[in-house]
Amino acid sequence: MIEPVYSAAENRYDTMTYRRSGRSGIKIPVLALGLWHNFGSHKPFQDVKAMAHYAFDKGICHFDLANNYGPEYGTAEENFGRLMDRSFRPYRDELLISTKAGWDMWPGPYGNWGSRKYLMASLEQSLRRMKLDYVDVFYSHRFDPQTPLEETMQALVDIVRQGKALYVGLSRYPYEAAQKAYQYLASHDVPCLLYQDRYNIIDRAPECSGLIDQAQENGTGFISFSPLQQGLLTGRYLNGIPADSRMARGTSLKKDALTPAMLGAIKRLNELAAQRGQSLAQMALSWLIQDTRVTSVIIGASSVGQIEDDLKALDNAAFAHEELQAIETVSSPIQLKRL
Ligand SMILES: NC(=O)c1ccc[n+]([C@@H]2O[C@H](COP(=O)([O-])OP(=O)(O)OC[C@H]3O[C@@H](n4cnc5c(N)ncnc54)[C@H](OP(=O)(O)O)[C@@H]3O)[C@@H](O)[C@H]2O)c1
Repeated sequence: MIEPVYSAAENRYDTMTYRRSGRSGIKIPVLALGLWHNFGSHKPFQDVKAMAHYAFDKGICHFDLANNYGPEYGTAEENFGRLMDRSFRPYRDELLISTKAGWDMWPGPYGNWGSRKYLMASLEQSLRRMKLDYVDVFYSHRFDPQTPLEETMQALVDIVRQGKALYVGLSRYPYEAAQKAYQYLASHDVPCLLYQDRYNIIDRAPECSGLIDQAQENGTGFISFSPLQQGLLTGRYLNGIPADSRMARGTSLKKDALTPAMLGAIKRLNELAAQRGQSLAQMALSWLIQDTRVTSVIIGASSVGQIEDDLKALDNAAFAHEELQAIETVSSPIQLKRL
């Protein structure tokens, strides 16, 4: 069968909000699509394509990847490469594509952490898989306490100098290491574009540790991942654990996360969302978007319908003081502790 040629929706920029990232010149959609789960070799390519096309048609022009997204490692990037070949190539200059290296990718001492050798080799591989000449943002995916910070940062600087990334970012760096990294990068004329961390209604770690304010003070945008706490902050688990859910697969979201206290709080949050005329997923995303310190929010999805639902968060992103207080009252006892 001959596949129809993809043509992006003409009104794709009409409803999305774009925020400037830190003190940079670039604007980022407040909702980005992450390819961690559901975009690898385990998912039919038809589904991958449908979600990516739908997102782009709605103004989600930022796609967030990493070398090891799949599953299997590398296959989300491979599928993104197929998308580039089959539909996205004419839109390359409209896309903000990020990838990362820092977690285990290949065996031996050079396939993990933060050495220059790993970061350089990993980005080469990512570019080949994604069929790209450059990425827009390349992240150090985690702080490596065994490698001099200067080595990791200089690798990022050189990657930009080589034209293989336009900007760089940091993910999950502790406060002090992040400060040194910001200073190193800025003093080498490669200011850090984005700091990426998990932040949502029930995980406030980057707020408590000062990482969000620190990013802002350093002119770096803050981008939240797992804004729905991998699906917990949605209607997905209100009535049990669906067979096709991330929790049922038991890889990164374990069943023991759904304690009776958590389930009770999710049900209460769901009622608060209903009072706002929103789904729980929408309220969780609106809660992040209303905070202007948050440049963007990277959602995950397993269907077009979920992206459609999530996008409606943009329609009602303002909260009354009482609504925010009610969310605090419900969420504070179950907030995850990871400081
Ligand atoms: N830097 C890092 O270390 C790091 C770490 C993790 C993630 N990330 C990035 O952040 C992205 C997002 O992470 P995440 O996937 O954990 O995000 P998330 O948005 O918290 O969770 C996504 C999951 O929530 C469920 N969902 C989404 N919308 C829904 C809706 N409207 N109704 C019901 N369920 C809904 C789906 O679960 P089901 O699959 O069960 O349907 C979906 O797979 C990743 O793809 C990656 O790009 C970065």
